[in-house]
Amino acid sequence: MSDVAIAFQEVEKHFSGKAVVNGLSFHVRVGECFGLLGPNGAGKTTSIKMLLGMSEPDAGMIRLCGEPIPERARFARQRVGVVPQFDNLDPDFTVRENLLVFGRYFGLSSAQTRAMVPTLLEFARLENKADARVGELSGGMKRRLTLARALINDPDVLIMDEPTTGLDPQARHLIWERLRSLLARGKTILLTTHFMEEAERLCHRLCVIEEGQKIAEGAPKELIEAEIGCEVIEIYGADPAALRDELAPFAVRMEISGETLFCYVRDPQPVHARLDGRAGLRYLHRPANLEDVFLRLTGREMQD
Ligand SMILES: Nc1ncnc2c1ncn2[C@@H]1O[C@H](COP(=O)(O)OP(=O)(O)OP(=O)(O)O)[C@@H](O)[C@H]1O
Ligand SMILES: [Mg+2]
Repeated sequence: MSDVAIAFQEVEKHFSGKAVVNGLSFHVRVGECFGLLGPNGAGKTTSIKMLLGMSEPDAGMIRLCGEPIPERARFARQRVGVVPQFDNLDPDFTVRENLLVFGRYFGLSSAQTRAMVPTLLEFARLENKADARVGELSGGMKRRLTLARALINDPDVLIMDEPTTGLDPQARHLIWERLRSLLARGKTILLTTHFMEEAERLCHRLCVIEEGQKIAEGAPKELIEAEIGCEVIEIYGADPAALRDELAPFAVRMEISGETLFCYVRDPQPVHARLDGRAGLRYLHRPANLEDVFLRLTGREMQD
């Protein structure tokens, strides 16, 4: 069997004559967690919809679990669990009923699904909500139910569009732990996220896309080293433009975002020496992270 779970090759999608996915190529190996990152409107959800056969590409080749998409999407999806960007649970059914109904889509018997329900409720920490109507759940609880529901067919591949958006920090850590245990069991995960910490923790590899095109790809650590390669001092509480001019001789690069000055340094000492003891000024010295990479590649100012 091929060791590639997902392949995109030169995929294109146009809406109203505009390319929203523009020659996108990447592959996800079996057992890998792969991140698809990019600003709002970059084409992540459109790519996922094409991958699932819900939207037809205008050009290019897609394979999922070895099957050509969209032609064999129905077969491929038997082995896939999906977390869509926006929850599509049935609000009139209970938590348990939502899981049972979903099991039927995969041709599971009611007894098979019933046997899965306790594990799935435990996965989502919704044991106490089994008989609550979905319409009565909080946003984060619905998200956790959607995540649990994606596992009903014991899928080999999980495709998750912003799985942890709307979750509180505790729930997010719980989901990260759960996803890591699924990876340890050999599952393959493709996820999108706007949480760079999430991508840095979970993804073996990731690609960053902008306007439907790939602008970077690699392991999080490699990308941080290649794109930033030094430490960061974030400075608030002073006029950032004046401070930028003052600190320029000691920095590899500097950026201003709103009221914050980002100072990229190989040797932090001269900057510390100038900042220490200044009234009203606060700073944070930290290692470079994936958010720095993302913002360097896509710009610190909002797009649209
Ligand atoms: N059905 C559609 N008809 C027309 N344009 C669309 C359609 N679906 C998506 N688009 C456009 O395609 C672009 C990519 O949208 P997409 O939803 O893939 O972005 P995304 O990367 O998932 O963004 P976000 O991070 O906000 O979820 C956007 O400009 C969007 O307006
Ligand atoms: Mg999206």
